[in-house]
Amino acid sequence: MRVIVLGSAAGGGLPQWNCGCGNCQDARLSGTGRTQSSVAISAVVCTDGEIDHTLGLLLLREAATRFPLYAPAGVVALLDREWPVLRVLSAYAGVEPRVLPEGSRVALADGAGRELGVTCTAVPVARRPPRYARQATAGTYDVALRLSDQKGATLAYVPTAGAVDDAVRSVARGADLLLFDGTFWSDGELRAAGAGADAPTAREMGHLPVGGPGGSIELLPRLGARRTVLVHINNTNPILSRSSSERAQVEGAGIEVAEDGMEVEL
Ligand code: MLT
Ligand code: MN
Ligand code: ZN
Repeated sequence: MRVIVLGSAAGGGLPQWNCGCGNCQDARLSGTGRTQSSVAISAVVCTDGEIDHTLGLLLLREAATRFPLYAPAGVVALLDREWPVLRVLSAYAGVEPRVLPEGSRVALADGAGRELGVTCTAVPVARRPPRYARQATAGTYDVALRLSDQKGATLAYVPTAGAVDDAVRSVARGADLLLFDGTFWSDGELRAAGAGADAPTAREMGHLPVGGPGGSIELLPRLGARRTVLVHINNTNPILSRSSSERAQVEGAGIEVAEDGMEVEL
């Protein structure tokens, strides 16, 4: 299986258009930006309905035929109602929503039903509905994915997770590659970066901080994945700076920081 990290940043990308922090200034000066998190696996599978993880669907409108979109039931409902991407796209190529069952393996197939040689198991992770749908009824709004090819090579893709819980453990166990939520280094990062006194904490947003007690660099090495790489990294996160002590702590734990365009052959 060939995995390509198309984007390694959180919502807003790097640099974020309205941000002048050190990370954003460095990215502007060096021309090494990052786009919003996504991975290429030869089928479109949505882990959640957040704007940063679904906006790209609109860019697929020039497809020659209706394209299949795998997503959890809660996300298909969001894309039909609160954030009606499916309806908008129906005027273009159109989308065929395929609901991902929770916890059971499906063989991904193309628009004509031909199997792609990749199976996918979606496991719900504990997170709130997106900001644009705060009142949405209870449902699964975020999943962790376990993707395997015919040779058994396995990718665990978990770009948003509020905890390392049983769901994450089941997806990551024995994976060749774990791509995990690296949004924030610390819980109060947005506030400290000047995003306002009412800015939510990392945990309130459903992102497990990377650093500190109980942070992901403490927990991820215990999951048994062969290689662990952080994705969905916010522009405020100090690990983006290669010379930071936080980056050294990540690397010291045997964990990598994804780059846009990174390719991994499993
Ligand atoms: C998230 O990852 O928590 C969301 O994408 C944040 C947002 O942009 O609202
Ligand atoms: Mn996001
Ligand atoms: Zn910034």
